[in-house]
Amino acid sequence: MTTSPLENLHEETAQLLARIESLDSIDALVEAEPFIIGKRSVLSTMQKSLGGLEPDARRDAGAQLQEARRNVEDALSRRRAHLAELARRTQLEKDRLDLGDVVVSSVRWPATTGHASLVASTQRELEDVFVAMGFTVSDGPEVESDWYNFEALNIPPAHPARGMWDTFYVELGEPETVVLRTHTSPTQIHLMESAVATSSLPIHSVMPGRCFRRDTPDARHLATFHQIEGLVVDRGITFADLAGVIETFTQAYFGTDISSRLRPAYFPFTEPSAEFEVTCTICRGEGCRTCSHTGWIELGGCGVLDPAVLSAVGIDGDEWSGFAFGFGIDRCAQMRHQIADMRALIENDVRFLEQFS
Ligand code: PHE
Repeated sequence: MTTSPLENLHEETAQLLARIESLDSIDALVEAEPFIIGKRSVLSTMQKSLGGLEPDARRDAGAQLQEARRNVEDALSRRRAHLAELARRTQLEKDRLDLGDVVVSSVRWPATTGHASLVASTQRELEDVFVAMGFTVSDGPEVESDWYNFEALNIPPAHPARGMWDTFYVELGEPETVVLRTHTSPTQIHLMESAVATSSLPIHSVMPGRCFRRDTPDARHLATFHQIEGLVVDRGITFADLAGVIETFTQAYFGTDISSRLRPAYFPFTEPSAEFEVTCTICRGEGCRTCSHTGWIELGGCGVLDPAVLSAVGIDGDEWSGFAFGFGIDRCAQMRHQIADMRALIENDVRFLEQFS
């Protein structure tokens, strides 16, 4: 009498299941897997030995073997999920910060209290620099009509320049008429309108605030970010005044070892326009990942107010002229504190935030 090749199937399967249960880490599981279910497993050896059986017997044995294999595979994938969950929990426990923890030790005395976020404190510092230069501080809405965000800034509907700002639209009124502001420039329009209405020209003001763009976050960009806008409308203002303000600001905020440069650029609402860049503080101008190996970081844009913008708000361009600038507050924080990746600003990792209390 020949013995069936599957004589030990139940015993072998039970052993495999027990072995699976004893695997105590994903690494151990990965290592054992070929011997449990792969080519080197006892099930595969049995499979090969079915060749010598009569067709009927082979069919029966094949079905039994397949069922055993399915049980083993199921057990293996349950174990894998269980071990993955265990690993996740262990990691969570390791990363856990107990925010309600009462620390009585003298090491932590005086007790730590909450503090402004780095972005908020940077905004205040920037405001201070401009206030010292004679500017007032204003703000405006984060949800704007298309007119304020684009049209009044000399960007008509369907103008190709709209591609410069990837826009979030708000479902309100007619489609694509209400936006999350893509920059702080619409606040210039509000300010000029109210100055006209109250006959209170000239204007020397900065306008900080939150802006939104459909950008994929990376080392230098966030989809929700902050800008500070500057606007001067006065008599006899030229590009030289703008360049002077930018340079004075750079030295006052970053210190005298950081240089700024203006490069020709295009914005529909200023003419001439320039891009405002500072030495990358991460690599001190050598070139690194953060500055895309250019040694410079673009902070924002600026330029002399286009007459079309003045006339959109009813300001006489023969009597008044002005300039505007707008740049990233988060970028300033990044450059001032040498933060290689800007996404750290929104991850809310207390270990990062605590450095700036
Ligand atoms: N609003 C422009 C931007 O965010 C920057 C800018 C402001 C340019 C003011 C010129 C004048 O891209």
